[in-house]
Amino acid sequence: MNTTIDLHNLPQHVAVIMDGNGRWAKKQGLMRVRGHEKGAQAVRDTVETCAELGIKNLTLYAFSTENWKRPKLEVDTLMKLLVSSLRKELPTLQKNNISLKAVGSLQLLPISAKKQLDEVIEATSHNSRMNLTLALSYGSREELIAVIKKVASKVKTNEIDVEDIDQDTINNLLYTNYMPDVDLLIRTSGEQRISNFLLWQIAYAELYFTEVLWPDFRKEHLIEAIENYQNRERRFGKTSEQL
Ligand code: IPE
Ligand code: IPE
Ligand code: MG
Repeated sequence: MNTTIDLHNLPQHVAVIMDGNGRWAKKQGLMRVRGHEKGAQAVRDTVETCAELGIKNLTLYAFSTENWKRPKLEVDTLMKLLVSSLRKELPTLQKNNISLKAVGSLQLLPISAKKQLDEVIEATSHNSRMNLTLALSYGSREELIAVIKKVASKVKTNEIDVEDIDQDTINNLLYTNYMPDVDLLIRTSGEQRISNFLLWQIAYAELYFTEVLWPDFRKEHLIEAIENYQNRERRFGKTSEQL
């Protein structure tokens, strides 16, 4: 790949809010679901580019807890699309040594989707080049409530002392406990909000918003986002001189 990206300063964890499928379709005079179908190519491009660059963790927001409130036809189509994409992409994931993971209230997924997802997760579990995590039926507040409940029950059974609760206690109980914090969060489609995504994990992430709608998002857009990230000074509270 011919880019000006500094391979020694890559984000360890890139997360993407893949937004704008519906608007993309509307612009073409198509049904919203056609936008979701078209988004599959953007997913492929993003996964491939991250793997080629050597990014270790890519997390894609595919369906939020709030998205269950959409019309049934749209939800059903998204779930079907999930199953067919997983089936189709399994050979590519294997070939590229990518491990698929999922975070969210997965028990709410239709049985067929959950089964296909488990199959691909299991089949790719030993792959080591990159973790590709799908946030599905995911909501950050729900995730945090689940963590709080687990901590409370550990305190109740004297497994941990209240005084010993620290950031690692939380990190270890999050769905994302196998990954470092997000370094770069990208949202497409021009919306500048977080929409209940990885609230704890983005505490010090660099935020990147682009007007590009998700179905139009290609390699060059991702490269642009990473170049932009690499031109920022991440101070983590310190002064420039201290870095
Ligand atoms: C993102 O695109 C995909 C999902 C949320 C599942 P949208 O469907 O939100 O597209 P817009 O925001 O309506 O354009
Ligand atoms: C966030 O997008 C969820 C996903 C991209 C899966 P939405 O389109 O659902 O978010 P809002 O409604 O604009 O906040
Ligand atoms: Mg949207």
